[in-house]
Amino acid sequence: MSSPVDPTSTPAWAKLADLHKNLQPDLRGWFAADPDRAKTFSLTAGELFVDLSKNLINAEIKQALVELAEQVGLRERTEAMFTGEHINVTEDRAVLHTALRAPQGTSLVVDGQDVVSDVHEVLAKVYDFATKVRSGAWTGVTGKRIETVVNIGIGGSDLGPVMAYEGLLPYKQEGLSARFISNIDPTDAYEKTHDLDPETTLFIVSSKTFGTLETLTNARLARSWLLDGLTASGAISGDEDSGKDAVAKHFVAVSTALDKVAAFGIDPENAFGFWDWVGGRYSVDSAIGTSLVVAIGPENFADFLAGFHAIDEHFRTTPIEDNVPALIGLLNVWYNNFFGAQTHAVLPYSQYLHRFPAYLQQLTMESNGKGVRYDGTPVVTDTGEVFWGEPGTNGQHAFYQLIHQGTRVIPADFIAFANPAHPLTDGDKDVHELFLANFFAQTRALAFGKTADEVRSEGTKEGIVPARVFTGNRPTNSIFAPALTPSVLGQLIALYEHITFTEGTVWGIDSFDQWGVELGKQLAQELTPAVGGDEDALAKADSSTQSLIGYYRAHR
Ligand code: F6P
Repeated sequence: MSSPVDPTSTPAWAKLADLHKNLQPDLRGWFAADPDRAKTFSLTAGELFVDLSKNLINAEIKQALVELAEQVGLRERTEAMFTGEHINVTEDRAVLHTALRAPQGTSLVVDGQDVVSDVHEVLAKVYDFATKVRSGAWTGVTGKRIETVVNIGIGGSDLGPVMAYEGLLPYKQEGLSARFISNIDPTDAYEKTHDLDPETTLFIVSSKTFGTLETLTNARLARSWLLDGLTASGAISGDEDSGKDAVAKHFVAVSTALDKVAAFGIDPENAFGFWDWVGGRYSVDSAIGTSLVVAIGPENFADFLAGFHAIDEHFRTTPIEDNVPALIGLLNVWYNNFFGAQTHAVLPYSQYLHRFPAYLQQLTMESNGKGVRYDGTPVVTDTGEVFWGEPGTNGQHAFYQLIHQGTRVIPADFIAFANPAHPLTDGDKDVHELFLANFFAQTRALAFGKTADEVRSEGTKEGIVPARVFTGNRPTNSIFAPALTPSVLGQLIALYEHITFTEGTVWGIDSFDQWGVELGKQLAQELTPAVGGDEDALAKADSSTQSLIGYYRAHR
């Protein structure tokens, strides 16, 4: 693998630095001078209509960003990813989440193995299982139909399934719902199980490694809850064999480590595999999405995958100047590295997408929160920005103040859908239209602001005019789609995956490892005996940690 290009050494970077130095942001003026600006900077990818016109760019800046992508080798690295080169160098792995949504009948041979046919073999098994649960052919140990599936997983083995489940609630089968346990805080397992009936509950233990402390602990808690509940009600005798039968009917697993699944006591027949070339945060479209398949059904899940694939094709084949994920990724670099933006807001105008920002936090920040490049040398620019957000309009009444009038540049993505899932009216008013009016108004206010003269013309007293001025020129992307369907959700996720990849490529980092989460895990293991009262272990800790553990012991 070739070394990463230093982006700051490219002619495009020098050009961008110059353009930034001389830029006088003036979205009002730019729109007034060019009636075609919205058209010029609007693009489509799949069913996504994306308006980039309210960014602090002009044709020259866009061109320089495109040149930057070319000069850092975005095209070549994209091909390397899609064809299975081991671009995850620190783990020596291919990065093939795009193969998870490759259509049946296509093929991609990597290290002598057709990964697409492997993918469809597992999908068929997941679909078969989900169909049985949905139809009632798969029952609990007492013969009752499953009513609740509980996914146990964390990080990529949780955030994708829960986000997509919430996002696609209108597609869920009546009488069947999903819950998600992730946190090792025992209240999570308690709250998600205490009101369920063990006879109608099925657990899906999802863990790529099947070695994650939180997930294995919660899986054991769930197993005890199940067996205790079934025994207490007399549904099973409580002896070892009855316990095994119950686990076989109430537990399935998703993992790349099927040997560990078996060691946990789950029959490998009831396990769905995936591969080391799927990163956890890129895995919602693998068997990790089993809870989602059960809830929305195989057909809808197939549409979800088709949505991802449409954006994969767009990203792989569209020239960079019309390539939506590439351009948004480049814009993020523009704000991050030239304007010093440190955060990026994601604001879905869809209550169903309330977990989308949290999902994107793992996708973007675990991928691009890196200080060294993929050849081990230090990065030469700032890298990953902080992604955050909440659905509109809730955020409008909470943190938008800072985006409108604060001192920092906060680029923001506004996401909305033309058609509501539930077309409700308030008297003669279509409530979805009221909702969308806010989506349109916010990007307009951020872009064009309000001048002092406009404030004065409303009769505002002179002393408070400054507080009511909006400077405008606050950059936004508007991402619009016909409706939040499974396919559109797949398209949105793939869009952000490739945005993340584009940024990582410019910065020369490996966006597919996550060593930064390891130290905390290791220290937690080391400290567990100290928390439990082991004085020798406590003595090895620093004074602050000793004092905190001391507080815990005194108050427990
Ligand atoms: O600790 C981080 C992480 O490895 C994530 O990357 C991953 O999604 C999560 O933990 C869960 O890992 P697993 O699926 O192996 O349980």
